[in-house]
Amino acid sequence: MADIQHIGVLGAGVMGGGIAQVCATAGYQVACYDIDSAALDAGLEHATTGRFGLESGVDRGKLTRAEADASLSRLTFTGDYDVVANNDLIVEAVPERLDLKIRVFRDLDNAAPEHAILASNTSGFPIQAIAAATNRPARVVGWHWASPAPVMKLAEIVRTRETSDDTVETVRTVAARCGKNPVVVKDTAMAWGFVANRVYFAMVAEAQKVLEEGIATADEIDQLMMDCYRWPSGPFGMVKGAGSGWS
Ligand SMILES: NC(=O)c1ccc[n+]([C@@H]2O[C@H](COP(=O)([O-])OP(=O)(O)OC[C@H]3O[C@@H](n4cnc5c(N)ncnc54)[C@H](O)[C@@H]3O)[C@@H](O)[C@H]2O)c1
Repeated sequence: MADIQHIGVLGAGVMGGGIAQVCATAGYQVACYDIDSAALDAGLEHATTGRFGLESGVDRGKLTRAEADASLSRLTFTGDYDVVANNDLIVEAVPERLDLKIRVFRDLDNAAPEHAILASNTSGFPIQAIAAATNRPARVVGWHWASPAPVMKLAEIVRTRETSDDTVETVRTVAARCGKNPVVVKDTAMAWGFVANRVYFAMVAEAQKVLEEGIATADEIDQLMMDCYRWPSGPFGMVKGAGSGWS
C-alpha cells in the first residue's frame, strides 16, 4: 500500500475546502488549490471560522485547541499549481463538467509525481472516462464525498476495471483515517451517479412527481420524509443544502 503523507486538493469551493480541512485534521499535510483567489480566501475562512470549521470543532468539543491549531498548520490554500500537483494523493473537486475534469486530469498526470494517486470527487461521471485522460489508469479512482465534508461519513470509493488493488486499499485507508466509512463500488458508464446519487436522484424524481401532481407542497414532502425516515433533511431541502454547503 502506498505511503500517503501529502495530499493536494484541486478546487477550494463547497467540497474542496472541506475535504482539505478534513485531511489536515486527520494528520496529512494538505495543499488546496484554486484558480480563483476569492475561492481560496473563502475556503480558508470556511475551514477556520465557518459553520463546520476548526473553530466550531473546538466549540463543539470535537477537537482540542491544540489539535485545531496543528490541523491549521498543516493546511495551505494556494494559487500555485506546482504546490498542489506535487503530492502523494491529489483529490479533484472542480465543477461537475466532464470536459473540465478530463483536462484537469490530463494536466495533473503530466505534473504530478509518477507514484501519485489521482482521485475525483465527481458526483457521478464515469471514472474510466476521466482515467482515460491519463497514462496512469491504475492510480485513478473515484472518491466521492458528501456535503458538508467535515460532517458526513460518506466515502464512496469508485474503482474502474483498471484501478489497482493497491490504489483502492490506499484510498480506503486514507478515508478511514479521515473518520469516514469507506465503501468500494464499481464504476459504470451506463448510469450517472454511482450508488448514493443514483438512489437519491430516483427519490428526488418521485418527490418532484408528487409535487407536480399537487398532492403536497415541497415543504410538506420534506417534513414527511424527515419524520418517516429520520433524515436530517427532505429531498427538496437536501438539493438546496448541497449546493450551498449547508452554511
Ligand atoms: N456540493 C456538493 O454537495 C457535492 C457533493 C459531492 C460531490 N460534489 C462534486 O464535487 C465537485 C465540486 O463541487 P463543489 O460543489 O465544491 O463546486 P464549487 O463550484 O463550490 O467549487 C469548485 C471550485 O473549483 C474551482 N475551479 C474551477 N476550475 C478549476 C481548475 N481548473 N483548477 C482548480 N480549481 C478550479 C472553482 O473556482 C471553484 O472554487 C463537483 O464535481 C461536484 O459534483 C459536490
